[in-house]
Amino acid sequence: MIIAIVFLLLLLFPAATILMWRWKYPELRWDWQKIDTSKIHFPAGFLWGVATAAHQVEGGCDNNNWSEWETARDENGKPRIKNGQKAGLACDHWNRYREDIALMQKLGVKAYRFSVEWSKIEPQEGLFDLAALQHYRDVCDVLLAAGIKPVVTLHHFTHPIWFDRRGSFEREENIPFFVRFCEFVFHELHGKVHLWCTINEPEVYATQGYFRGEFPPGKKDPLLTGMVLKNLLEAHTQVYRALKKMPDGDQAQIGLVKNIFQLDPYHRWHWLDWALSRQLNHVFNDCILQFFKTGHFKFKISRMAEVRHFNPGAQRAMDFIGLNYYSHLHVKFLWNPPEFFALAHRPDEIMTDMIYPIYAEGLYRAIKTVASLSVPIYITENGIADAKDDRRDLFIRRYLYALSRAINDGYDVLGYFYWSLMDNFEWAEGYGMKFGLYEMNFQTQERKLRKGAEYFVKVVNLN
Ligand code: GCO
Repeated sequence: MIIAIVFLLLLLFPAATILMWRWKYPELRWDWQKIDTSKIHFPAGFLWGVATAAHQVEGGCDNNNWSEWETARDENGKPRIKNGQKAGLACDHWNRYREDIALMQKLGVKAYRFSVEWSKIEPQEGLFDLAALQHYRDVCDVLLAAGIKPVVTLHHFTHPIWFDRRGSFEREENIPFFVRFCEFVFHELHGKVHLWCTINEPEVYATQGYFRGEFPPGKKDPLLTGMVLKNLLEAHTQVYRALKKMPDGDQAQIGLVKNIFQLDPYHRWHWLDWALSRQLNHVFNDCILQFFKTGHFKFKISRMAEVRHFNPGAQRAMDFIGLNYYSHLHVKFLWNPPEFFALAHRPDEIMTDMIYPIYAEGLYRAIKTVASLSVPIYITENGIADAKDDRRDLFIRRYLYALSRAINDGYDVLGYFYWSLMDNFEWAEGYGMKFGLYEMNFQTQERKLRKGAEYFVKVVNLN
């Protein structure tokens, strides 16, 4: 009798847990055949922009952790970047920024999100290059003269080699070097900058660099992943508090840029797929949001790593949240240590050129997720890798519909930045991924507006 009860409980517990998970984490799917995506509305003053990042577009970023990584080989002697490519001259945006700002004006956008390259501003520890800083001051001035608001990202995956040699964000004692850099840039550019984004996608930096080994420094260490993530969030918090104390700091709008990828279970009745999905969402999404809600950082990868940290100053340590959203990924349990998962997509999903599909409902879900931080939201990145330009129009129509629906449902979204202005260096993927509204000819540096970008231009100029 007792064995029967125990057996029943062992069966009931997972079934009840799965039922709870299915209810709490629905995989939102809309019937796009019945949706008129032209039925969209954005409030007056909604901020439309485009986004880039220094290493991906500027050229001449040859003194940072990525420039080293681009020359490195993996354990099989293979280059770290697809086809052995390097960022190199990229879009020569350092020299062509005036031309590119004119292209932004043609689009009709009123904001430009770009990152400042720490390795150019502080090429050696404590030595600040005033000419490099003058360059970014000039970029801001040309933007403002063009009626475009500058939005600055202070760390977008790259930092100087000297900071890397010190152990970068692996060591909490290095955070003050980043704070000092941010204070320096803020002192020089404040009053010109509309929004300050401290760190771009700490979760991507930590998981790609320290768990999956796809980004520098290419480590696969679950505990170090948690430590780095904790230090990045702590760095954001310290930068936020430091800048707020500076002249005009109380007026500045300072936030973190969080990537949300829903990691949905492929089989929605499968206990292991669910357990894996919840574990990955905890690491990639939930533990970060919890830190800024409660001050408690609780990172745990079962039977592998646990990192705990408490900073009450983290609560509300942001004036807005930047949300980078692209898609979701489906995870299947797979016995392939140390990852234990395989990525999949549903057969009816339209794939982008990256490993994930078009999933506009996910933008609605992601907005709902970050809204729990109770600060205004900016979509700081959203776009599609589509070399054939045969899905970009559909992508833009669906995601802007989802955005409009979220705003109309009451979510406080104040702006949207399309990723990206032009094709650029897509990190480990090299130049193969074409995210640009403008198609790049990297031999001639010619920029050409894609047909798939035309609907975005139309919507931007409706308001
Ligand atoms: C990221 C970065 C961008 C990417 C973009 C397309 O999310 O990795 O913010 O630098 O290029 O998201 O993948």
